[in-house]
Amino acid sequence: MKPVRVGLLGLGTVGGGTFNVLCRNAEEIARRAGRGIDITHAAAREYDAARLPGIENIRVSDDAFAVVDDADIDIVVELIGGYEPARELVLRAIANGKHVVTANKALIAVHGNEIFAAAQARGVMVAFEAAVAGGIPIIKAVREGLSANRINWIAGIINGTGNFILTEMRDKGRDFADVLAEAQQLGYAEADPTFDVEGIDAAHKLTILGSLAFGIPLQFDKVYTEGISHITREDVNYAEQLGYRIKHLGITRRTTAGVELRVHPTLIPDRRLIANVDGVMNAVLVNADAVGPTLYYGAGAGSEPTASAVVADIIDVARTLTADPENRVPHLAFQPDALSDLPILDMDDVETGYYLRLCASDKPGVMADIARILGDGGISIEAIIQKEPQEGEQTVPVILLTRGVRERQMNAAIRGIESLDSIEGRVTRIRLEHLSSR
Ligand code: HSE
Repeated sequence: MKPVRVGLLGLGTVGGGTFNVLCRNAEEIARRAGRGIDITHAAAREYDAARLPGIENIRVSDDAFAVVDDADIDIVVELIGGYEPARELVLRAIANGKHVVTANKALIAVHGNEIFAAAQARGVMVAFEAAVAGGIPIIKAVREGLSANRINWIAGIINGTGNFILTEMRDKGRDFADVLAEAQQLGYAEADPTFDVEGIDAAHKLTILGSLAFGIPLQFDKVYTEGISHITREDVNYAEQLGYRIKHLGITRRTTAGVELRVHPTLIPDRRLIANVDGVMNAVLVNADAVGPTLYYGAGAGSEPTASAVVADIIDVARTLTADPENRVPHLAFQPDALSDLPILDMDDVETGYYLRLCASDKPGVMADIARILGDGGISIEAIIQKEPQEGEQTVPVILLTRGVRERQMNAAIRGIESLDSIEGRVTRIRLEHLSSR
């Protein structure tokens, strides 16, 4: 059979990795795909030829539109990232009848509904395994491996940079900015690293997971998104004393009132496997009705781990090129005419446990006031730490863990606590999840 011809957009961290993996493993890949896979045309503004042996044998220019318009290309692989011109290039590739493979989570989360509709109408595939959790085949697992199940919830560490920063802060006491700089140097961080530290990248990925799990359209604008930039070493240490780890989680859960889509730092019991996922590694815990909990672990970022997912998609597309479009695996796991309009819950209506840290005057009655406000709000305290005042200090840190309560109730209680004369500054709040399999 004739080889499949691939056009590559981008020769950076992931594009370079994809080129190298496809070249290095060409023979084995052809045995898997049933035909050869040849990159024949690439576009990149700049690239390091010394790290891409064999690149001199293909046509490379800086014109991405020339690749998507190249009549000889069967599959366009978009690895430039960002919203534009990626959207325009992908839509043009689809209009030209080409299949698309992309690692672009921002593009899929924000423009995926439009892109999938265009692909459906043109009878081409858009594959995006590398968009979520790098090298972990989580999309295939949720979309195909778990297709017998009703999924209850998914919780994942889906931003490698953020997990790397939290791990280094905890284990080595390193400074936030210093670890972020290292993540950038290693090629883990986004072009704009605020996407990593403010949770936007994780929100892109969670949007995709929520749609695959529950058969809902992609709704990035409804994700509650909070980053890790306000997490301090103190909080990491207090959490540990209480038997918890702080992880930046993306959580999507089906409730009777709607679907939760939320990204925020979260205390999780340190005995959970996912609590021990460190460094740039990602992990996704899926709770489904038939199989129960399953956990997927691996490198969430980096050149060849991400390329592993990109190349698997190229092989998948190559294998099913001739299949009837109606019988391919649907982009969002559910048939496009069977998506559901389940509402996305407002964060106020989400129920979780909480870690609260506050700074209280060292005088009688303060704890009673705090307990009264929480009690009046129907909030039950699960654990408490009060430190002795340091010499010369008039205030003491108080750390509380609460049972599950609606965010709206907690907001009211925090307002009440902050208005007490005996409380200094703002209350730090970090959400808490037990992630038990029940
Ligand atoms: N910046 C992303 C991360 C890259 O750190 O997870 C992989 O999507």
